[in-house]
Amino acid sequence: MSELLKDAGCRAPNSLCMGTFVPPGKENETVTLTIDGKEVEVPYGTTILQAARKVGIRIPTLCHHDDLCVAGVCRICVVEIEGMKRLEASCS
Ligand code: FES
Repeated sequence: MSELLKDAGCRAPNSLCMGTFVPPGKENETVTLTIDGKEVEVPYGTTILQAARKVGIRIPTLCHHDDLCVAGVCRICVVEIEGMKRLEASCS
């Protein structure tokens, strides 16, 4: 796994998971974001889905499972992100 990628928490055996991107130098830092008016502070590399769950916001999922690698293919979990032109999969 690249040093720029953070373990996404996949517990699948012999995983080839890519993880999530962490900017260089930010490995031990946190980021604060606001989801539906609720502020949450999470480590860099945390997915929006994980951050939302931390503050009790439910985002529906289909291909995501906590015990499997991130697939990010079904698009059920898409969310609007301020400044982004298109909807993004919150699980990835
Ligand atoms: S749950 Fe399938 S893309 Fe996120």
